[in-house]
Amino acid sequence: MKVINEIGLSFDDVLLIPNKNSFGSRLNVSLKTKLTRNIELNLPIISANMDTITGSEMAISMAEAGGIGIIHRFNTIEEEIEEVKRVKRKSSLIIEDPYTIQVKGTIADVKNLINETNVSGFPVLDKNKVVGIITLRDIKFHNNLDKIADVMTSKKDLITIQNNKNLSAKYFLDIFKKYKFEKIPIIDNKFNLIALVAAKDIFNANNAITTKNSNDGKLMVGAAIGIKSSAFERAIKLYEQGVDVLVIDIAHGHSSSVIELIKKIKKNINIDIIAGNIATKQGTLDLIKAGADAVKVGIGPGHACTTRIITGAGVPQLTAISWAYSVAKDYDIPIIADGGINNSGDIMKALAAGASSVMIGRLFAGTKETPGSTIIKNGKKYKFFRGMSSISANSKKLDLELLKDVSIELVGEGKESFVPYIGSVKETLLQFIGGLRSGFSYCGSRNLSELRKNSKFIKLSNSSQRESFNK
Ligand code: XMP
Repeated sequence: MKVINEIGLSFDDVLLIPNKNSFGSRLNVSLKTKLTRNIELNLPIISANMDTITGSEMAISMAEAGGIGIIHRFNTIEEEIEEVKRVKRKSSLIIEDPYTIQVKGTIADVKNLINETNVSGFPVLDKNKVVGIITLRDIKFHNNLDKIADVMTSKKDLITIQNNKNLSAKYFLDIFKKYKFEKIPIIDNKFNLIALVAAKDIFNANNAITTKNSNDGKLMVGAAIGIKSSAFERAIKLYEQGVDVLVIDIAHGHSSSVIELIKKIKKNINIDIIAGNIATKQGTLDLIKAGADAVKVGIGPGHACTTRIITGAGVPQLTAISWAYSVAKDYDIPIIADGGINNSGDIMKALAAGASSVMIGRLFAGTKETPGSTIIKNGKKYKFFRGMSSISANSKKLDLELLKDVSIELVGEGKESFVPYIGSVKETLLQFIGGLRSGFSYCGSRNLSELRKNSKFIKLSNSSQRESFNK
């Protein structure tokens, strides 16, 4: 039996030793980091590519806060592409192909469209002519059978923009300030709908924190792919829809299939690839040599993971991060710490150990932005959360033909649960940002490179762990 002479550490096994702060306010801390070789973030946080965590709504909020979301892959190619399109549509200054509704419909039709699209207001058309606009606010106190024509803001009160104007961000900003509408249709001189402009997009466009593609100004979004035969086709189609980064994500990413797929994608398209998951130095090296632009670390630390119990394999997460970083730093390739984050203190420890960002599932699971509706039990709201290798997720994969072998694949390596509803992910992110700024200040570091240079960990005894965490 071979045993290595190192004790595996995880987040609760250590604390960061405080350092002198010579820069004053926590507001002087920069949380800027690199997601991949070519992509920068203003917040080192990524939402996990799990089907109960990241769809378009989560990805939009993550990018608006300076991080990024990775659309999950446990769907058809068309469904994944649609989620990417929704992020891109949301974030352009002008929405060129807006969702619309025909004037002949009822409020029930509007509600259905809101549910289907997650969009809160639509131009109302008679064929292609704009005759009004209807938003969530308009329908609040109306019955399903009420007619759109009676409830909408109709043509006589409608603000529209002629598309022959010089449509700059400043022009839109002035119009929204003046009229206080949320959405304004852009029309030609015959009232045909050309596009739509939304106040939120215009105000967000001025937000310096937002993660934007510098070529087109749209929000950045990532999308996951697996390694089955359709994965390459998925990668190409996602790329064609403007996805900014691909995540080749399988449970055991140190594999020849992942290495071959990275090479094949790199040969055909120019896109950054995050590959994983791995937990060793050799795994890091092999993925980087294959062409990965970031490496995702984590075998079994996730809240919904039972991999270590079922298979006996894994590496405690803090040690895995530091192993991966010890290799990746020589290639200047960022490490993403994926799984097991319980609080902002854990994010600090992951960053100090060498991660450039962290991927989060469970802590976002109860937020408004995750896919799926809330359920109410005993007067309290919950949302569903599951591991992507749980039995129920695996049976969905079988339905989608993402898995083939029923006998093997229905051995789950993941848990499922209902978690309390906690409101918008932006609130959670604000808490993290505050915690990180304080954490950097305690470590006497203004930014990530200073943190890596300055930080030292101390290992904890059982009683120190009790003193630290049993609050
Ligand atoms: P947290 O702890 O933030 O971790 O919820 C999110 C990460 O957990 C991984 N994941 C799984 N790992 N079995 C596993 O072994 C699973 O069923 C499973 N589902 C998710 C994944 O890396 C995710 O980003």
